[in-house]
Amino acid sequence: MRSSGSTSADGSEVPGSDVLVIGGGIIGLVTAWRAAQRGLRTAVVDPDPGGGAARVAAGMLAAVTELHYGEQMLLGLNVASAARYPAFAAELEAASGQDIGFRACGTLAVALDSDDRAHLRELHALQHRSGLQSEWLTGRECRRLEPMLAPGVRGGLRVDGDHQVDPRRLAAALLTACERAGVTFHRDRAERLVVVRDRAAGAVLTAGPELAADQIVLAAGSLSGRLAGLPAEVVPPVRPVKGQVLRLTVPAAHAPFLTRTVRAVVRGSHVYLVPRANGELVVGATSEEMGWDTTVTAGGVYELLRDAHELVPGITELPLTETRAGLRPASPDNAPLLGPTALPGLHLATGHHRNGVLLTPVTGDAMAELLTTGELPAVARPFAPGRFAPAAVPPPAAPPATASARQEQPA
Ligand code: GLY
Repeated sequence: MRSSGSTSADGSEVPGSDVLVIGGGIIGLVTAWRAAQRGLRTAVVDPDPGGGAARVAAGMLAAVTELHYGEQMLLGLNVASAARYPAFAAELEAASGQDIGFRACGTLAVALDSDDRAHLRELHALQHRSGLQSEWLTGRECRRLEPMLAPGVRGGLRVDGDHQVDPRRLAAALLTACERAGVTFHRDRAERLVVVRDRAAGAVLTAGPELAADQIVLAAGSLSGRLAGLPAEVVPPVRPVKGQVLRLTVPAAHAPFLTRTVRAVVRGSHVYLVPRANGELVVGATSEEMGWDTTVTAGGVYELLRDAHELVPGITELPLTETRAGLRPASPDNAPLLGPTALPGLHLATGHHRNGVLLTPVTGDAMAELLTTGELPAVARPFAPGRFAPAAVPPPAAPPATASARQEQPA
């Protein structure tokens, strides 16, 4: 079915498309790109497409080192997406003519004391039981790989398959690829879903115009539950989880500073250092249940620098070039919501929490399959929104209407 538009209540013509994606972060953009590649007339509505998550995220592709107990179902999706990254990066770079900073650099997760070491041993055993590749190293072996590590590092896990991408470049490339594939952009905010005869039929934008579409994908990150007009039973149960992230710069004289991502759990908090080829060193991230707050705090910056300094003392020499906070769109089981809702014509692609960058390739493929065939591929079926009881977790109160509170999320 191809919508050629419709007539609004005041009798004016409403522009139409096959697919309208609400939210132009990396998840919305990859959905739009893949849909357009399959011949669907696709539009995206977002006041600042290519922004959001990508502005904050570190870009770790950490399917193995971010494995958590109770998340084995999510692991399957994470591993599937990680496996697609090399081909996805090559295809996107060819389509956009832009480098997305995909680096097959691997990750080293280290322990600073005996508690950390016990935690890492547990993680190693869980990885092994889950069929994942990781290798236990002594502290000396860790420092041989990464000489800038602190002398006190007691051991670590070498994970050669956990790579990185630059999320800002990824978002920019997706935006260009969408434009080249013919996606239409409406640089405005979707205010309200339009429902006609019990079917999602379009959206009303802040500036007033209405857009019609045969299928709508709600991909607005942590704000996905805030769209007016959503029937209560399809409101996605996503909440914002704040992450503060720092960016430092490694001067050429200090390079190579780190050759791979280095991470640890220090006093119960995760800290990671992600070195880019261009000298940027990303240090993240706090995890805070603070509602819509995106303030960078002295305490957040202090804790990140303190923990990163324990791992790699030399970071205090580096210029601190940026501090930023964003919002992870978290769902009740930490896994994304992908697929159709109880409202015909409305699909979700949201709730990616810590894994938005990692899950970008598999999300785009799954949503395009759904949009063209009406069926999710097998890998995505466990993540259909119907797994949650209606309104199981009500969304938090309305956020302030500021750009900084939009769908930014670390990853
Ligand atoms: N995946 C890293 C983070 O969410 O901080």
